[in-house]
Amino acid sequence: MVVTARAHPNIALIKYWGKRDVPLNLPVVGSISITLGGLETVTRVSPAKAGEDHFSLNGEAASPKEARRLKAFVDILRARSGRTDALHIESRNTFPTAAGLASSASGFAALALGVSRYLELTLTLQGLSEVARRGSGSAARSLHGGFVEWRKGEATDGSDSIAVPLADASWWDLRVLVCVLARGRKDIGSREGMALTAKTSPMYQTWIDAQEPDLEAARGALQRRDFQALGEVAEASCMKMVSTWLTTRPALHYWRPETLGVIQAVTALRGEGLPLFFTTDAGPHVKVICPGEAYMEVEARLRALPGVLEVLHCPVGGPARVEVQGD
Ligand code: DP6
Repeated sequence: MVVTARAHPNIALIKYWGKRDVPLNLPVVGSISITLGGLETVTRVSPAKAGEDHFSLNGEAASPKEARRLKAFVDILRARSGRTDALHIESRNTFPTAAGLASSASGFAALALGVSRYLELTLTLQGLSEVARRGSGSAARSLHGGFVEWRKGEATDGSDSIAVPLADASWWDLRVLVCVLARGRKDIGSREGMALTAKTSPMYQTWIDAQEPDLEAARGALQRRDFQALGEVAEASCMKMVSTWLTTRPALHYWRPETLGVIQAVTALRGEGLPLFFTTDAGPHVKVICPGEAYMEVEARLRALPGVLEVLHCPVGGPARVEVQGD
């Protein structure tokens, strides 16, 4: 039997940064994201050839560290299914890996879906979202299409810390233009960065306390399809997260000088009357969001900016999907 699962990455408009429980991967705050159509992780799950798990990403065997993280994740699903199958798992991304494009989100969403189907585990979407979250928090959001909220949850076992769809992809024709500003991996992953922020940033508690009003504002803006309101709260959320990075010791420098250049250009273009706003994640790239009807002009202006190597165009994407071949 071969199972192929596909999931899109997502970008948070209202950000997740920090954990209230590390082993269960429970967040200190809720978050809201857009699913990115056009980019995806494709994960193929088949029986292991050599009797032990094998993991590869984009044609290369996983490093020992990556393999340990992946195996620990697959073990959660094996334990739930009562099966012990060794698996051959190959993943491919159609976009740059580990450079702030949240490949762990689509990666663990596709893995959770593919492996659970291979092991014939019948999980509800809620159950799947709980499992995906254990792999990477943002992966819980990538199981759904459209606009998604990952609820912080209150339960100590994490059973209510799940992602729920707020609206599907057809609700609002927004486009995400990912301005790629560098190639290669980042030095400090989100996981490590979050732990440092929680330990050392004097802004951390302020960040946590300020999240609920932002979530509320973003839910309202999405419901009303109010582009200006969504942009204001999304940019504010991003900058609050960045303020916790800059006040972490040692400071987390995920941005590059070009990142700030593009952000300032986005503000200037808005001043000229173009509808657009920005967000960034734990990497140098700037994600620009605009309404569908404005994307061609916005894209042309972004491509002309210094430091922009490439612009990826993403419509709002659909949910993760799975296909089974053989028996
Ligand atoms: C800045 O989901 O990659 O992109 O749960 O530790 O795997 P782990 O973290 P991850 O962090 C994403 C952080 C972010 C903001 C966001 O996507 O909400």
